[in-house]
Order: sequence, then C-alpha cells, then structure tokens
Amino acid sequence: MLKIKDLHASVEGKSILKGINLEVNAGEVHAIMGPNGSGKSTLASVIAGKEEYEVDKGQILLDNQDIDELGPDERAHKGVFMSFQYPVEIPGVSVTNFMKAAINETRKAKGLEDMPANEMLKKIREKSELLEIDRKFLSRSLNEGFSGGEKKRNEIFQMAMLEPKLAILDETDSGLDIDALRIVANGVNKLRSKDNAVIVITHYQRLLEYIVPDFVHVLHNGRIVKSGSKELALELEAKGYDWIKEKANA
Ligand SMILES: Nc1ncnc2c1ncn2[C@@H]1O[C@H](COP(=O)(O)OP(=O)(O)O)[C@@H](O)[C@H]1O
Ligand SMILES: [Mg+2]
Repeated sequence: MLKIKDLHASVEGKSILKGINLEVNAGEVHAIMGPNGSGKSTLASVIAGKEEYEVDKGQILLDNQDIDELGPDERAHKGVFMSFQYPVEIPGVSVTNFMKAAINETRKAKGLEDMPANEMLKKIREKSELLEIDRKFLSRSLNEGFSGGEKKRNEIFQMAMLEPKLAILDETDSGLDIDALRIVANGVNKLRSKDNAVIVITHYQRLLEYIVPDFVHVLHNGRIVKSGSKELALELEAKGYDWIKEKANA
C-alpha cells in the first residue's frame, strides 16, 4: 500500500529526513517511535503532503503510484488520513456538518454525487455507536471548548466516517491522558481491518499497550535506525533512547 524509498526531506532549507525506507501493507499497524526532534512529525507531514515540507530525494508510493506531485487534498481523496496535533476550532459548524462536508468533498473528487441524507444519517449513527460517541456531542461546534479527550474523540470519529486506506496518527506531543489514550486506541482497534493500514507515531510505549503494532520502527536523526516487532517498544522503554543514540553513533 505505502512504499517509501530513500526519502530525504527538508523544511525551510534544513535537512530533516535523511534516507527513510518503509513499507506498509494493508492490514498492518506500524508504530514509529523516537526521541523528540528525530523527525517523526516531519515524516507524517511529508506523507500527508503538507506544503512547507520539501522532498529532496526518494519516493513515496501509494498503491504503486508516486504521490509527490499530489497536494494534501488529493492525497486525502486517495484515502490518506492524518490526525491533527493542533485541531482548528470552527465556531458555528457542528461536528456532524463538518463530517458531511468532508465526506461529500471526497465523493465529489471521485465524481460521485453527495451522499443521500438517509445514508449519511445511518453512517453517522453506526459509527457513533461503534465508538460510543454521545449524540449531543455531534451537534456541538467543531472543537470549540473541546477538552483534550473530546478533541481525540472527534478525530477518531472523523477517521471512522472517512474510512481511510491509510491513517497516520501523530500523538507525540499532545500529552494524552489515560482517557484520550483509550479513545484513540479503542477507535483504532475497532477500525482495523485487512484492507486498511495505520501508522501510529508515539514518543512513549504506553499507547502501544492498547494498540498492539505489527512492526515498530525507531527514528533517530531522520533515519530509521532499528525495526522490529512489538517487543522492540518494550526494549526501548526499558533501555531508554540513549541506547539507540549510542548504537546510531557507534
Ligand atoms: N515547520 C518547521 N520549521 C522549522 N523546523 C522544523 C519544522 N518542522 C520540524 N522542524 C525541525 O525538524 C526537526 C524534527 O522535528 P519533528 O519532525 O517535529 O520531530 P519529532 O516529531 O520526532 O519530535 C526538529 O529539529 C524541528 O525543529
Ligand atoms: Mg512530533
């Protein structure tokens, strides 16, 4: 599904990713860990196609198609979803209406008509029940006065509604409390399927107690310095990131 080959990327002329190779297949969950500043969020942003990041070398292939020339919207329409570390507030636009607009936007890009209202309602009902989201929550203004947990709930609801092929969740610096952690994990676990893939970015091992990854990769100085199974996350937790830094510098 996703193939990253020798990816080098920079922001504001500063080289950050220095040769990333990564392959993510349908049905897999990959965790990306690494110390602060190692380039985790940059990697997520480059995959999602954020404009301020420059690909200097290498390729990002989605279903064997090079997506370098595609903007973030086009990538989203192809099924790439990225969680927002700093979600925007939109006063006067409800969670439900925002979702309707997002879904119809994607349909339009595929040449489809708006989703019929009854189908939309059914989908909203199904997904909100699956994720145990209160109906009252759905009529609230987007992100306005949302608690940390509510922002996460909204994000996961968006993911459930959009049914992305590839979801990238960058949770690193958001200081998730235990409730938010459970919301994210629960959502991801319920939406895992053989047809989609998830990349979970996290600084801490804790989230991976709830979302059990198939593969763990450790990023350091813009390179993946170690890959392994879920046990690697435990080893990292026990030995600390200095262990990786020493290995990388050796
Ligand atoms: N928009 C930006 N402008 C300038 N520097 C940036 C920007 N985004 C990231 N960086 C720099 O890139 C490096 C990697 O950052 P980041 O990808 O956020 O790491 P991580 O998510 O692993 O903590 C850091 O040195 C950071 O300061
Ligand atoms: Mg980050």
